[in-house]
Amino acid sequence: MHKQIIGVIGSGAMGSGIGQVAAMAGHNVVIYDNNKAALDKAKASLSATLQKLEEKGKISSASDVLHRFIFVDDIHAFATCELIIEAIVEKLEVKRAVFTEVEKVVTDTCILASNTSSLSITSIAAACNIPSRVMGLHFFNPAPLMALVEVIPAIQTDTVLVENAVALMKEWGKLPVLAKDTPGFIVNRVARPFYGEAIRIYEEGIADMATIDWAMTEIGGFKMGPFTLMDYIGHDVNYVVTETVFQSFFFDPRYKPSFSQKRLLEAGWLGRKSGRGFYNYATGMALPEPNKDMELGKKIFYRVLAMLINEAVDAQHLNVATAQDLETAMTKGVNYPKGLLAWCNEWGAKNCLAQLDELYDNYHEDRYRASVLLRKMAAGS
Ligand SMILES: NC(=O)c1ccc[n+]([C@@H]2O[C@H](COP(=O)([O-])OP(=O)(O)OC[C@H]3O[C@@H](n4cnc5c(N)ncnc54)[C@H](O)[C@@H]3O)[C@@H](O)[C@H]2O)c1
Repeated sequence: MHKQIIGVIGSGAMGSGIGQVAAMAGHNVVIYDNNKAALDKAKASLSATLQKLEEKGKISSASDVLHRFIFVDDIHAFATCELIIEAIVEKLEVKRAVFTEVEKVVTDTCILASNTSSLSITSIAAACNIPSRVMGLHFFNPAPLMALVEVIPAIQTDTVLVENAVALMKEWGKLPVLAKDTPGFIVNRVARPFYGEAIRIYEEGIADMATIDWAMTEIGGFKMGPFTLMDYIGHDVNYVVTETVFQSFFFDPRYKPSFSQKRLLEAGWLGRKSGRGFYNYATGMALPEPNKDMELGKKIFYRVLAMLINEAVDAQHLNVATAQDLETAMTKGVNYPKGLLAWCNEWGAKNCLAQLDELYDNYHEDRYRASVLLRKMAAGS
């Protein structure tokens, strides 16, 4: 079977991970970056990763896989590529400019994809002469380990190319889901309250961060609590996605960012990578202990869960994705212990709605409005 030549733009965390996935699936891969030092770093780290995989017996030959790569700082090397995946800085104007440049080099049949987390695929496609060949292929970090890929057609995208991309992702061992070109696609939209509502609970002084993290992990079964997770992701990434999603949703209060997190970013307290974020990771600093009050813990957990379920149900209502893809996205993209729609059924749509309506009655904020579909589900229709 013909193996397409894959191009990757950007040799950072995502670009090298995506390149690794493609090369391990047998493709020749051209990795382009405009920063020579970044290319050298990617080459060295890919070589080390593949070596480890060989030692563990996961691949038979690291050098065979490495030989499938070429690392270039000249965009003309993309001339023979059949699919190019862009993973550069998350800035719309920079991405649009790069797509325009790439299109001058490639053939008319080459597919162009973006790994953007939150920008409009339609807007990126509009920078191209052949917008029907552009789509979103959103991998999760680290790309070789995370199975989920959100496949996002722009409104201009040729449907056949989308079907081909879904088939290719399956060949690469991925779990593709289809998402409408709306802010944050599936995961980065539906997951927003996990962070935002947790911060709100903290800001109101209902509980401290350690207690909220404890409630979400011990009672909720999430792998990491929201504050630990935000510190792990980095506030330069997590806050910026929140702000982009909020602006892109025409300032819907449901997605409103918080000052607590914005201040961390301004202070350069980016999380684990800078030694301090919500928590202080300096050596010798003990992390704070939670208050393991079950009643308080449940109050926190059900408040966040209701907000998450509401997002998932509303995304279903607005046809952002099918119910099945919504479940796959949240369990495989962010490792939630259950799909949110299944969780809604288990808890009872009525109970979830009652929790949201209680918040709405207390706060009189649009942030807590329940999706009309949740209301219908609670009414049993
Ligand atoms: N890191 C994540 O968790 C994650 C997850 C999913 C999607 N994404 C998205 O993937 C993209 C890349 O993220 P990342 O974390 O790999 O970033 P990164 O900073 O690790 O890497 C970006 C690379 O792109 C290169 N680059 C920047 N501008 C360029 C240009 N004009 N031409 C060529 N190369 C250029 C940089 O030199 C750098 O090596 C972003 O759109 C991001 O939103 C990131």
